[in-house]
Amino acid sequence: MPNLTIQRVGHACGARVTGVDLSRPVPADVLEVLRKAWLEHLVLVFPEQKLDPDSLVAFTRHFGELDDFSSQPFNRHPDNKEVFLLSNKKKDGKVFPTYNAGQNWHTDLSYTTRPAKHTAVYCQEKPSVGGDTMFANMYLAYETLSPKMRAFLDSLEAVHDISLVAGLDQRGPEVANEFRRLNPPVVHPAVRLHPESGRKALYVNERVRNFLGLSEEESRPIVKFLCEHSVQPRFVYRHYWSLGDLVMWDNRCLVHLAVGDYDPAEIRHMIRTSGMGDYYGRYLDPEKAVAQMKTAPEGAAKVDRKAVSALHD
Ligand code: OGA
Ligand code: MN
Repeated sequence: MPNLTIQRVGHACGARVTGVDLSRPVPADVLEVLRKAWLEHLVLVFPEQKLDPDSLVAFTRHFGELDDFSSQPFNRHPDNKEVFLLSNKKKDGKVFPTYNAGQNWHTDLSYTTRPAKHTAVYCQEKPSVGGDTMFANMYLAYETLSPKMRAFLDSLEAVHDISLVAGLDQRGPEVANEFRRLNPPVVHPAVRLHPESGRKALYVNERVRNFLGLSEEESRPIVKFLCEHSVQPRFVYRHYWSLGDLVMWDNRCLVHLAVGDYDPAEIRHMIRTSGMGDYYGRYLDPEKAVAQMKTAPEGAAKVDRKAVSALHD
């Protein structure tokens, strides 16, 4: 690895990696270094890469099995169902549904029962200025809360609802309704133990409607406080995109935001993969949760059966 360099670009998270060509097979020893760097820095930026959907898939698969985006099949890349298009280009005369994706603080696919482990976004076209992405470190968000608040949150589960995706309804009723039909509300713990680092991270963001066992009225100020607390500037890295950047982040311990600070008349076009999560949440609706256990044996083993039966009480 004579040329590999890894340099931090932010205090909260982020490192820039040079000296590796991701369009070619990456040697096992380099991959090992990248995996460690990713766990340490949470966001890796690989500048000046030349990728297409296939090479993006080939590289990012090293970090785990990829999602096929069945939660939103209409946003897939036409050539590869493991690649998602994040674009404000027109398709069939209409602006692509992801033109305003990610514009509130979130972690990817938390409105599904198997939220994303990683997301990797490759910049193919960008506006002349802006179109930045911000990342906030949710380990720090958790660790800076008082012990009592941490203990309270450790005991909570949160309802994630796709209806709270910013700008969903601006995409038109057809797209919004299809999104909702495919993604009924799901339940995840408010705090997740990262399976690789062993650290706890806050898992509450702007797509949380309420906590189980608390009313929406009771939950709202807590969610609001946690959302504000977790994205303070000191916990944030802001990425200013260049063409050819590949940015890969860990959704288990970060939230992120598409800033939307650009002229919509200019093109912003990215291709993306997401890794299948390493844990399963469950549907809020008890019948759906039970069906989930029956029909997804692989996932069922990991769904908390006690919690599901508690829903019937
Ligand atoms: C995403 C996302 C942010 C951006 O791809 O999940 O939120 O700035 N992207 O496009
Ligand atoms: Mn996102």
